[in-house]
Formats: sequence, C-alpha cells, structure tokens
Amino acid sequence: MELKDKVVVITGSSSGIGEATARLFAKEGAKIVVNSNSNTEGGEKVASEINAAGGRAVYFKADVSVPNEANALIKEAISKFGAIDILINNAGAYESQDFINSSKESWDRVFNNNLFGAIFCSQSAAKEMLNRNGGKILNTASVYGLEHTGDPNGMAYSIAKAGVISLTKNLAKLWSPKILVNAVAPGYVQIPRFNTFPESEQKAMINEMRLGRFIKPEEIAEAFLYLAKSDAVTGEVLVVDGGFGLK
Ligand SMILES: NC(=O)c1ccc[n+]([C@@H]2O[C@H](COP(=O)([O-])OP(=O)(O)OC[C@H]3O[C@@H](n4cnc5c(N)ncnc54)[C@H](OP(=O)(O)O)[C@@H]3O)[C@@H](O)[C@H]2O)c1
Repeated sequence: MELKDKVVVITGSSSGIGEATARLFAKEGAKIVVNSNSNTEGGEKVASEINAAGGRAVYFKADVSVPNEANALIKEAISKFGAIDILINNAGAYESQDFINSSKESWDRVFNNNLFGAIFCSQSAAKEMLNRNGGKILNTASVYGLEHTGDPNGMAYSIAKAGVISLTKNLAKLWSPKILVNAVAPGYVQIPRFNTFPESEQKAMINEMRLGRFIKPEEIAEAFLYLAKSDAVTGEVLVVDGGFGLK
C-alpha cells in the first residue's frame, strides 16, 4: 500500500519515535494527525513544521487513556481529512518503580499511558475502519514486553507492553482481513530524557544491546513504514532492539 493521501493518526507524536514517524510518513505523502497530552507546544511544532515542509498535518491534544478523548482524536481525523486509514498507537511512558512497594496509582499511570490508550484508540478507529475500507493498526511495544528481565523498576512497564503485544495478536485475529494489526518492539531508542541520566547509566543501557549506540527514533519510524506499506503481514511483532534479545 502506498501512503500518499492516506490518513494516519499517530498517538504520542510530539517527540521521540512518534515525531520521527510523523515526519517520515508525511514525506511519503500521508496526512498526519499529530497527538500528545501534556506537550502541546511540541505537538503543534511537529504539525506546523510538517506543513511548512509541504506536508499535511494537524495537531490534536488528547489523553488517549480517557475513552472520550481517544474517540475525539479519531473523530478529528475524520473531520479534518475525511477518513482514518492507519492508527499508530505509540503514546507511552516508562515509569521507574520499586516493584515490592509500588502503588496502585503508579500501576494505573503505566497501564493507562502504555496499554489502555492503545485499547481505546483501537476501539474508536476500528468502528470507522470496519465500516469503510478497512485499515491498519500499528502499536509501539518494547523489548521489555518480550524479554523477562526481572527488573523490579520496570515491572509495570514490561507487563503493560506484554499486554500491547497480546492486544496486537488478538486484534489481528479478530479483525483480519479488514484490519491488519502489527507492532514494533524497540530496544533503547535515543530520546532527550536519556540525556538526563548519568553517563554510567547510559553506557549500561547501550551495553545491554549489541549496537554500541542507542537506536535512533528514525530507525523505528522505518520499521513502522514497512508495516504500514505491507499488505501481507499481520499479528507480527517487528523487533528492532539492536540485539537486546540475543542470548
Ligand atoms: N525510547 C525508548 O527506548 C523506547 C523503547 C521501547 C519502547 N518505547 C516506546 O515508544 C513510545 C514512544 O516513546 P518515546 O521513547 O518516543 O518517548 P517520548 O519522546 O517521551 O514520547 C512519548 C509520547 O507519548 C505521549 N504520551 C504519553 N502519554 C500519553 C497519553 N496518555 N496521551 C497522549 N499522549 C501521551 C507523549 O506526549 P505527552 O507526554 O506530552 O502527552 C509523547 O508525545 C512509547 O510507547 C514508549 O514506551 C520507547
């Protein structure tokens, strides 16, 4: 499938992987709905820079973990561009916790941002896609959802991302062949937040992979581009982890 004139909603696209994906898909001629919840300035900047470069994008603020807001985001795509062809459930946030003392509030935040948002956006998008020409749903998982690291700090995040992988495979079965559903599972991807970590911690993260460096957001965007264009792949998790999972 070519992306020219396709309508693509990318949750969590004010920075990082989502931003890189929005910019790449816009270059392919897609119409982009950029989204974030807190960083409205970043989201508006991404949309306006895409438009200034000759692409087509709008920004829509929504907390995707709130069903009404997730639904309003999908409606924005319909009202501004007339359709939704591809949904990329990318919004998410890692939160470090001490598992044994972790609070319900912390689990709620991690599950809301990383899993429930993907569920609610998928529900709303599928209502449109199933009634029209079908579509594609792509999810941002993580190697943390595949590898069982036993890291007490990342327990909620790992379990939420495992949920994203299960969601991907279940929806692929449920909605095929009208909607193809896939995920990308990144390793450590360079985002500005990592720069705030001590150098020793950054090195330790890099050492968990085999690349000798962080993965670039643009390299994850390329994986999304492959899945968005493919009309043959469904229920897959494309692992782009720089060798994190190698035993
Ligand atoms: N960086 C990595 O190493 C890595 C590795 C594996 C997977 N991932 C996953 O990749 C995805 C993108 O993260 P990133 O690394 O690119 O980090 P990022 O730059 O912090 O991007 C996260 C995006 O998600 C948005 N977001 C978070 N919660 C949201 C909500 N409830 N509603 C709407 N938007 C929300 C953020 O905007 P606001 O905060 O302004 O709302 C931001 O746009 C996440 O799912 C993350 O778990 C990242």
